[in-house]
Amino acid sequence: MNIGILTGGGDCPGLNSVIRAIVKKTSKLGHHVVGIRDGWKGLIDLNFIELNTGSASGILHLGGTILGTSRTNPFAKEGGPQKVMDNIKKLGIDALVAIGGDDTLGVAHKLYGMGINTIGVPKTIDNDLSATDFTFGFDSAVNIVMNALDNLHSTAESHHRVMVVEVMGRHAGWIATYGGLAGGADYILIPEKPFTIDEVCDSIKRRHATGRTFSIIVVAEGAVLEETEVVITKDVKKDAFGHVMLGGVGKFLCTEIEKRTGFECRDVVLGHLQRGGSPTAFDRILATRYGIAAVDLIEKKDFGKMVALRGNQIVAVSLEEGVKRAKTVDMDVYEIAKTFFG
Ligand code: F6P
Repeated sequence: MNIGILTGGGDCPGLNSVIRAIVKKTSKLGHHVVGIRDGWKGLIDLNFIELNTGSASGILHLGGTILGTSRTNPFAKEGGPQKVMDNIKKLGIDALVAIGGDDTLGVAHKLYGMGINTIGVPKTIDNDLSATDFTFGFDSAVNIVMNALDNLHSTAESHHRVMVVEVMGRHAGWIATYGGLAGGADYILIPEKPFTIDEVCDSIKRRHATGRTFSIIVVAEGAVLEETEVVITKDVKKDAFGHVMLGGVGKFLCTEIEKRTGFECRDVVLGHLQRGGSPTAFDRILATRYGIAAVDLIEKKDFGKMVALRGNQIVAVSLEEGVKRAKTVDMDVYEIAKTFFG
């Protein structure tokens, strides 16, 4: 069989672990693997590389993706879907594994409807895919946030400051909640729970009234101000999948807190640092299990599916279910985090 693999959307730690697992397992089964470069763009431009056990070795621990990625949406390009179909045919691809978030998997789902044998592997640091308990990449991002908060604690304490740390996650507060909980945040703001500046200031004042002289606030980039119900964006321009570029809520909050409480504040934007570096052990193992499960589905010719984690089992769900709705934060976990707010 001729198997194609592509990685689409924002990169994250663990992509190479999936690629390695697929190549090593398929080579044992006697299949041939083609790596499509830069996500769906590679299937429009016919840009690919041969993958074999040699090129897929030594990459388990590497961040990013050896195939490159892009936010290209063939369905937003004139003649895009046809080019993709033609090039899949030209490459003789019998099965195509798309590793990505809701956007990439949404394209895989549409192509499946057009007769292409697609399989999806869920990736995103945002952990916002509803059909799986966890996407790989999330745990690595949470660890980066946790380490950043550990480092910020000492400087915040020494200077008696309020540090406002803006984290990624788009319209879901998974990274903020888990990262904040792991790093001992004193307040966490998430998109799922619109906030008022007064409630944040009151909480910090309560904490400082007990003798504490510093606070760490984690704010998700998609956090929404209750009064205005708008998210703050860096740029109103939308990408090919219709997403605006979020960012700026941390700086806004920092200015307001300093103005209203008199406490000295600094803001830190963790940004793309959260997507870089080596995957954690959890993500390496999850990504590897996903890769092997994707090959099992190909062997069974069970296409139009996405591999998913349910409890500790890897299962297969339809791609349709995989991209149906975004998964918001588990509010039970957020309630636990609230125990530690001022
Ligand atoms: O979806 C992953 C993500 O890192 C989001 O958390 C973030 O809003 C977005 O991608 C940033 O995208 P880009 O890399 O295109 O700036």
